Amino acid sequence: MSNGGYVRNAWYVAGWSSEFDDSLKRVVILEQPVVMYRTSNGLVAALEDQCPHRLLPLSKGKRLGDDIQCGYHGMTFNCEGHCVRVPGQDNIPSSAYVVAYPVQEKHDIVFIWMGDPDKADADTLFDLPQFGNDQWHAHQGDALHLKANYLNVAENLVDPAHVSFVHPTTLGNAASENVPVHVDTEGDVLVAWRWIRDAPPIGFFQKFGGFSGNVDRWHYYYLHLPCTAVIDFGSADTSMALEEEARDDGVRIFALHFLTPVNEHYTIDRWMHLRNAAVGDHEASAQMDDLFRVAFNEDKEILEAIDEQELLPQSRKPIRLAIDKGPSVYRRRIASLIEENRE
Ligand code: FES
Ligand SMILES: [Fe+2]
Repeated sequence: MSNGGYVRNAWYVAGWSSEFDDSLKRVVILEQPVVMYRTSNGLVAALEDQCPHRLLPLSKGKRLGDDIQCGYHGMTFNCEGHCVRVPGQDNIPSSAYVVAYPVQEKHDIVFIWMGDPDKADADTLFDLPQFGNDQWHAHQGDALHLKANYLNVAENLVDPAHVSFVHPTTLGNAASENVPVHVDTEGDVLVAWRWIRDAPPIGFFQKFGGFSGNVDRWHYYYLHLPCTAVIDFGSADTSMALEEEARDDGVRIFALHFLTPVNEHYTIDRWMHLRNAAVGDHEASAQMDDLFRVAFNEDKEILEAIDEQELLPQSRKPIRLAIDKGPSVYRRRIASLIEENRE
């Protein structure tokens, strides 16, 4: 399905905090090249990665203190994007600048604002109350690179129905194939959810809950527009008859996905997890990473195959099913946000 561009007035994840140091790192986000580095005060700077003279990426230049000197003719820019030196002349033309992007760092994640800098508001950064709570263990996983459009990737993350078929050994099993998905599209966050009551535990919870008898299992897929997905899933022994709002009493996991659209056919999905079990157990974190890697590579294979297919001439529109309410609303919301950003 073709897309109409990107929501620009939004925070996107540029990387985990550990990805940035004092070297010049080039990243491409929403088709914009950006050079990022830590300045002497430890903050991350983000500048347009293109010299306004002959377009050499500034990331190919070198740092002089907190400034960057272009690697071709030595024009030098400070971390606010202002040109501070043009070799061979005294005056600095007014067009000699590069765009500087607002950056925020929170929960060991570096966020960048790709739209109108006056609208960048740190209060709108993604948050989850379980971060920093010592009953919970947060662990950063990988950056999954997908040759796929971000809308298809996001759609997959508000779609609990696929797990029975795509992830039969880890996140789903046949017991959930016909369980209907509920969707709530009010408010800023879309949510699709379902409970599978009194069914055998999926592979993940056999391993981490130690469950052997039947469990009640939930899946809540929260999609924060435009590009952050929170998947709240867990299990509890069926004999507990767990209420929806008592999910903390079961083994509860949040899988977070931060999508960074690179271009129309390339998306980076940085994923991490938080859990209320095996807190402080690094071996468990590594084992969870392994299970998630299996599952997310299954998604990658599907999404990349779809992207290739979409490039072929199509004579009919994809059909919509009952399970597609979340994805359909997501696409409509994105389209209207893009429209709003244009105005
Ligand atoms: S290309 Fe950068 S100074 Fe010439
Ligand atoms: Fe999946």
